[in-house]
Amino acid sequence: MPEGASDSTPSQQSPTDATWAVLVAAGAGERLDLDRPKAFARFAGRPLLAESLDRLDRCPWVHAIVVAAPAGWEEPAILLSEELATGKVVACVTGGATRAESVRNALAEVGEEAVVILVHDAARPLLTDEVVERVLGPLAEGFEGAVPALPVPDTLKRVEEGRIVETVPRDGLVGAQTPQAFLAPVLRNACAGDVSGATDCASLVERAGGRVAIVAGDLHLLKITTPEDLAFVESWA
Ligand code: CTP
Ligand code: MG
Repeated sequence: MPEGASDSTPSQQSPTDATWAVLVAAGAGERLDLDRPKAFARFAGRPLLAESLDRLDRCPWVHAIVVAAPAGWEEPAILLSEELATGKVVACVTGGATRAESVRNALAEVGEEAVVILVHDAARPLLTDEVVERVLGPLAEGFEGAVPALPVPDTLKRVEEGRIVETVPRDGLVGAQTPQAFLAPVLRNACAGDVSGATDCASLVERAGGRVAIVAGDLHLLKITTPEDLAFVESWA
């Protein structure tokens, strides 16, 4: 833990005053193959982005929200948050070329008073207060980050040119989800350097030597990637 950070962990402050959420929604959704970005795909009768925005807004642990929207879709994202009357959305930024760059753009709008930053994928709409509570827990116990994860059920194979070259031992492997929670200065430092190749924020914090805990994930937090995923997750909503 960085010097001084122990003075500002959630246990010492009201978490609702100090926990900000970054909602990354700036991806193109190429694998969904629609005429619009994934965040604006129809989900349970409204744009997909509305589901996680609404849930974060109603989450008692979250004080303020910054949304990263696809270039050209900032206005619809702002209108959506106004329609939902989400009093917590303080800014909507244009996303970057990669997820990590979208997070970095959003961090610029996260207030200096933020003690904890939650980063969540809009592609995982079925966020619950319980999973938010679970990832905040380890930050009060000396961890710098926490990630929800599920065990990997299948046998894992490394494949080259259509042929199996290795069976990867599954022991100790989990699939990481979001929301991921971090002490604000730790996430800011991790995102300040080279973010290439990072598919989640925890990997950047790990790369910088940070201690990141694993907590129980949630099957319903499946990331919508393909049209089949969209139908699945919508059936659970
Ligand atoms: N994301 C983002 N900015 C990017 C890329 C991704 O904010 N430049 C966000 C997505 O909006 C999504 C999350 O990161 O909520 C996870 O990314 P992914 O599931 O890969 O979504 P897309 O990049 O939109 O999908 P695809 O890779 O199929 O284009
Ligand atoms: Mg992507």
